[in-house]
Amino acid sequence: MNTTSNKSGQASSRLGPVRVGLLGIGTVGAGTFSVLTRNQNEITRRAGRGIEIAAVADLDVARAREIVGDRAQVVGDAFALVKDPSIDVVVELIGGYGVARELVMQAIQNGKHVVTANKALLAVHGNEIFAAAREKGVMVAFEAAVAGGIPIIKALREGLTANRIEWIAGIINGTTNFILSEMREKGSSFESVLKEAQRLGYAEADPTFDIEGVDAAHKATIMSAIAFGIPVQFDRAHVEGIASLQAEDIRYAEQLGYRIKLLGITRRREQGIELRVHPTLIPTKRLIANVEGAMNAVWVKGDAVGHTMYYGKGAGAEPTASAVVADLVDVTRTLTVDPGNRVPHLAFQPDAMADLPILPITEVQTAYYLRLRVSDQTGVLADITRILADAKISIDAALQREPAEGEQQTDIILLTHVTLEKQCNDAIARIEALPTVLSRVIRIRLEDLN
Ligand code: HSE
Repeated sequence: MNTTSNKSGQASSRLGPVRVGLLGIGTVGAGTFSVLTRNQNEITRRAGRGIEIAAVADLDVARAREIVGDRAQVVGDAFALVKDPSIDVVVELIGGYGVARELVMQAIQNGKHVVTANKALLAVHGNEIFAAAREKGVMVAFEAAVAGGIPIIKALREGLTANRIEWIAGIINGTTNFILSEMREKGSSFESVLKEAQRLGYAEADPTFDIEGVDAAHKATIMSAIAFGIPVQFDRAHVEGIASLQAEDIRYAEQLGYRIKLLGITRRREQGIELRVHPTLIPTKRLIANVEGAMNAVWVKGDAVGHTMYYGKGAGAEPTASAVVADLVDVTRTLTVDPGNRVPHLAFQPDAMADLPILPITEVQTAYYLRLRVSDQTGVLADITRILADAKISIDAALQREPAEGEQQTDIILLTHVTLEKQCNDAIARIEALPTVLSRVIRIRLEDLN
């Protein structure tokens, strides 16, 4: 392709602009339209060709027209757009796995490249979608699906390609990180912070996927596939959210030098891959422990590079558009490249994928924070530590709350060294059977991330 630069620095090419069909012009769609329009010159200079949103499909046609004016065609029927022979690339910003899946599959069947921000779709149906795309020789790009504006897919798939990746731990849901930050700073309960977050518009009216860890698990599933060259396996991920987290555990963790974050973790073990999302204690001195509010961060350990961290906005109109447009530039640059020479969807060549199993949560190895409500009497701690010693679980730190005057009960907090989850479960069952242990043991996993 013959591309030259004119005096204003604007790239020109003998080829016309790449024609994009945008499915869904909500927050991210509007952001994508505005970034592409505003940075047109820079983007063309980088891509070697113009990229224009030629058509937009949205159920709310009037609102879509208000956003794009007469700069793009607006239609109500997205299926018409994925059939339109003049469209080169489809950007899917509808979300979910219903109609979005149909549209993406039809776009691929019609030979169109796809850019999507849809983590749920790829985490659940990614294997089928990537196989169809390979068959048709088209790209499915999804930088915006994980951690919004942070280029983590690019980093894992290309920047770190020399490495044997050992593990990834990410704060990959802004809503829950905002809630946890507020709970810690204000000492408030989960319920009251959630209400406040909804009032301020940070949390969705229905925040179930965020709160229950499902959104983070979708993203962790995608990163796991790319890091280890395994198929996406959302159904094997262990998922726990933050709804049952109590303010006092955040406070005790702080006293012991830890912060609690909702982490998406994936780690290579000899026997298979850990893939889990749950509240996690991490040492306050780690950089990632200090990621507060709605920000996202991903911490990656590679054997050659060591630790690297990627930080930024994981949601929002323009941060997510930044990732969508980056994918559009990537697709544009490789339009003329032999499909076999493109970066594979999941970073590894499709015939070189590994069949490492995702380990069940009982086989996971991690450390634990245990909070026990006990009778304040002689020998209680000795009974508990004996059970842990019998299970070969070693204690790293302990804290006992001073009982208030006249109070007959107290809290004991124990931090363990790394152990197998099923061993920890057995020990907890034995501890809960002690007559001096007065309620269920609160158990939160702990990762040193070193
Ligand atoms: N709802 C997500 C979050 C953003 O709170 O981070 C989109 O994945």
